[in-house]
Amino acid sequence: MRSLLFVPADDEKKLAKSLSAGADALIVDLEDSVALAAKPRARQIAAEFLAAAAKSAEQPLLIVRVNPLAGDLTDLDLDAVMPARPDCVMLPKSLGGASVQQLSVKIAAREARNDLPDGATQIIALATESGEAIFGLSSYRKCSRRLAGLTWGGEDLSADLGAQANRLGDGAWAGPYALARNLTLFAAAAAEVAAIDTVFVNFRDAEGLRAEALAARRDGFTAKMAIHPTQVPIINEVFTPTDEDLAKAEAVIAAFAARPSAGVVAIDGEMVDLPHLKRAQRVLARATGASVSQSERGRG
Ligand code: COA
Ligand code: MG
Repeated sequence: MRSLLFVPADDEKKLAKSLSAGADALIVDLEDSVALAAKPRARQIAAEFLAAAAKSAEQPLLIVRVNPLAGDLTDLDLDAVMPARPDCVMLPKSLGGASVQQLSVKIAAREARNDLPDGATQIIALATESGEAIFGLSSYRKCSRRLAGLTWGGEDLSADLGAQANRLGDGAWAGPYALARNLTLFAAAAAEVAAIDTVFVNFRDAEGLRAEALAARRDGFTAKMAIHPTQVPIINEVFTPTDEDLAKAEAVIAAFAARPSAGVVAIDGEMVDLPHLKRAQRVLARATGASVSQSERGRG
């Protein structure tokens, strides 16, 4: 899974368009992009869309972003969408592993009620939306078998901090948000789940998006969220291993296969040892798997 496109759940036109955007996953949003008064209608549209999308020719992963556990809307959201069998639920304003466990219990009850296998629905947590959430980042490891990915956000976090801005003049993330981003990467590695980079809100700036996606891939993120269909092809391209990446990875694997007892080998004048082999195996896994189930982290 490389690209995840957000679509406001109360916007039937965008929902219809989203299926052909080429995104690996769609995030049907019941939270921040839907006004409070529009939520009941959005829930109903989301359920109808999920049911129809499951039968369409395009088969993106279907994710629903529910409202945060701290309010009283999460149960209503799940009641409406779980009969339509989303692949995954995105949890905003997550505070740590305990939040994921709490959502997991709610999901499990609805899986039972809707005759779905226990554990069929995965969870992606938005893990940095408040100062408090930052301190929960170490608690995701082994919190739930449903947890498939962690992602982060700079908008709600800046509101919680009372910041004037979250980006510097040149577009780079200001210190607190760069820290949140980097800690998400560590938290995802610790939890052995996919690390998903946040949205790039300036959807007319293709070059800015590309640069941010390239930096994310360089550092270990395997996917990025999108808010506009034009962002999807750029994200897909950046997070798809190139032929050169694949050739390099295959060369590393071949070098170790040729000398099974070696701990270290040389390729084109460069030292290659176990971490390089692990990285090469991940590149190949990424090239073959498009599922949310973090196959590149080895949990399957
Ligand atoms: N999914 C599907 N289609 C989308 C889309 C999306 N996220 N964003 C835009 N489109 C469609 C528009 O409906 C429009 O369709 P049309 O050509 O048939 O009229 C086309 O793409 C071009 O859109 P454009 O005019 O460039 O943008 P806009 O002003 O209509 O919308 C946003 C801009 C930001 C409001 C819109 O992209 C959006 O709603 N994004 C998602 C927001 C969201 O979910 N946020 C929560 C997470 S941060
Ligand atoms: Mg938000």
